Amino acid sequence: MYSLASLHSFGFPISAHAIMSIDVAADLQAQLSQLNNTAFYILGEGSNTVFLEDYQGTVIKPAFMGIDLKHTDTHYMLKVGASENWHQLVLWCMQHQIYGLENLALIPGTVGAAPIQNIGAYGVEVEQFIHQVDYFDMGEQNHKSLASSNCEFAYRDSVFKNRLADNVVITCVVFAIPKKWKAVMHYGELKALSEPSAIDIFNKVVQVRKDKLPDPSKIGNAGSFFKNPIITSDHYTELLQAWPSIPSYPVDLHKVKVPAAWLIDQLGFKGKKIGGIGCHPNQALVLTNDGSGTGEQLLQLARAIKDAVLSEFSIMMENEVRLIGNKGPVIL
Ligand code: FAD
Ligand code: EPU
Repeated sequence: MYSLASLHSFGFPISAHAIMSIDVAADLQAQLSQLNNTAFYILGEGSNTVFLEDYQGTVIKPAFMGIDLKHTDTHYMLKVGASENWHQLVLWCMQHQIYGLENLALIPGTVGAAPIQNIGAYGVEVEQFIHQVDYFDMGEQNHKSLASSNCEFAYRDSVFKNRLADNVVITCVVFAIPKKWKAVMHYGELKALSEPSAIDIFNKVVQVRKDKLPDPSKIGNAGSFFKNPIITSDHYTELLQAWPSIPSYPVDLHKVKVPAAWLIDQLGFKGKKIGGIGCHPNQALVLTNDGSGTGEQLLQLARAIKDAVLSEFSIMMENEVRLIGNKGPVIL
């Protein structure tokens, strides 16, 4: 058995039956054939994955590195290995005066995982900068590329979580970053900035995130545990009768997004604990492990929150975090 404690940010002392490290994309076919149709899980840095109990399958750990920069007249084209660290890429871009990714600073995890849930923060989603995703198709046994327009990106969603889920290993991501930079500063604390440079935005995002979110190297967590739910405008209008201050962000003419943190906060979960698992006192959407928590306690707290939100607001929340049990995905 191989320990996964340091390989996922929730930090449960869990093991896997086997770990397969793959350093070269060209070796994927040969190495993956050794799985012989047994269970597997592809792992980046484990910042959106919680292993709840010992995993009986093989954890595949790609190690595809490298940053290759080319130019067109209008764009920087960056081809980046899937296992590069996301924040280090953002930093690299800032150091090379390539601006655009600054709102996405300090998001943990790998470049390869970024398109999977279309990472987003502070008014920007990564889809805006993705040109193409290269992957190995485990069904067809060949290497393929998918243009951004075919990745079916949406809020915390993409084709890689649906039709292609658990069937591809992303090997690299090609970004197209416009040379003409425009500040995005409509979200939260960024509004207060006056004529900021990209570096000002980068610094502000880093500071706000450090103030608000627990550092996974100090306290186990996986960021937002649930997605912010999207509900119909009619449902929202009904909720306003009982909850006049419920916040919302427009999605389209018929739908709005409501902050899950607000819903959870109203129900009094903030600061509550079950054993070593807590609802973070500064950010109700983040569940934490103080080092003594268990997968069972996490499921108990998450289910209690989900049930309470459904009962009070008639909203069915979906977990953002991938929960993995001994045989594979666990449904909340
Ligand atoms: P993992 O957890 O290892 O994997 C996530 C998924 O991707 C799994 O389904 C896995 O099988 C799959 N996967 C990983 N690599 C590959 C690959 N090469 N090929 C195929 N499949 C692969 N997310 C946001 O969007 N915005 C935020 O602001 C944000 N803030 C966070 C703050 C904290 C403190 C934490 C802990 C997490 C936060 N997250 C945020 C979530 C997380 O950072 C992202 O989801 C990130 O993209 C996960 O990367 P990872 O490499 O750790 O993925
Ligand atoms: N709020 C509360 N109580 C809280 C925290 C927040 O009521 O304890 C309310 C406030 O009204 C606040 C609103 O919720 O205005 C939104 O809070 P915040 O700006 O902290 O963002 P969030 O909706 O909780 C989302 C993403 C984060 C991302 C931030 C910033 C999701 C699921 N989460 O969080 O992403 O960093 O916005 O853009 O969309 C992640 O995905 O893991 C993640 C951390």
